[in-house]
Amino acid sequence: MQTVLILGASGAVGQQLLAQALIHPGVAHVVAPTRRPLPAHPLLHNPIVDFAALPESATWWRADAVLCALGTTRKQAGSAAAFYRVDHDYVLAAARLAHAAGTPTFVLNSSLGADEKSYGWYLKTKGETERDLSALGFASLTWVRPSLLDAGTRADFRLGEEVGLWLNRYLGGLLPRAWRAVAVADVAKAMLDAALAPVPGIRVIASSEIAGSQ
Ligand SMILES: NC(=O)c1ccc[n+]([C@@H]2O[C@H](COP(=O)([O-])OP(=O)(O)OC[C@H]3O[C@@H](n4cnc5c(N)ncnc54)[C@H](OP(=O)(O)O)[C@@H]3O)[C@@H](O)[C@H]2O)c1
Repeated sequence: MQTVLILGASGAVGQQLLAQALIHPGVAHVVAPTRRPLPAHPLLHNPIVDFAALPESATWWRADAVLCALGTTRKQAGSAAAFYRVDHDYVLAAARLAHAAGTPTFVLNSSLGADEKSYGWYLKTKGETERDLSALGFASLTWVRPSLLDAGTRADFRLGEEVGLWLNRYLGGLLPRAWRAVAVADVAKAMLDAALAPVPGIRVIASSEIAGSQ
């Protein structure tokens, strides 16, 4: 029975991660630090934190695995620098503390096309986050790299996502598998499966390998 630490548990993928972890027979305890309270659950510890000043001495950093679905959009964050602070710096800060506390496994919700050499700021950020997580010394790392996320309805309107989902709906099977939208529940399942059966080194789960995307 494992303890999992979820980052971004209030988000579209994170809510699925949380719901699936809380009913998984292999999970005894879930820790989910967020900036706003989550609904209470007997298996859930939900510290309220400021990701810009994470509590370094908290004992809950020691888990069996971290599942990270933390992230923002440039529009929400207000600038590319603020986006980078969340999608790279906050992820790295939490990962450093979890690793220092002895957590051996980290699973990242990254992105299709993540590449530190990308000319696009989004994919470059995702690639740099993967690169810098690799240097921390986790025994097991997994990059789950989904294409467009199908999150159902969101509280905020995301034009690019809506257009992409519309194209997915109408072009359907004409799109290459790797580009088809993936349901957030399927991304969460791929992440949880990877966390609960860690393999040494770095494993990449491509969008086309996420169940339900084919
Ligand atoms: N959208 C796509 O098509 C797509 C495709 C591939 C990969 N991805 C990546 O997948 C990941 C998860 O996406 P998602 O759609 O599930 O994200 P989401 O719904 O926007 O949720 C993001 C999570 O990060 C937290 N967060 C954002 N800014 C924060 C801040 N400043 N301080 C603390 N917490 C903060 C949010 O907390 P609050 O609830 O408090 O805001 C929420 O828990 C992201 O990294 C995204 O880049 C997205």
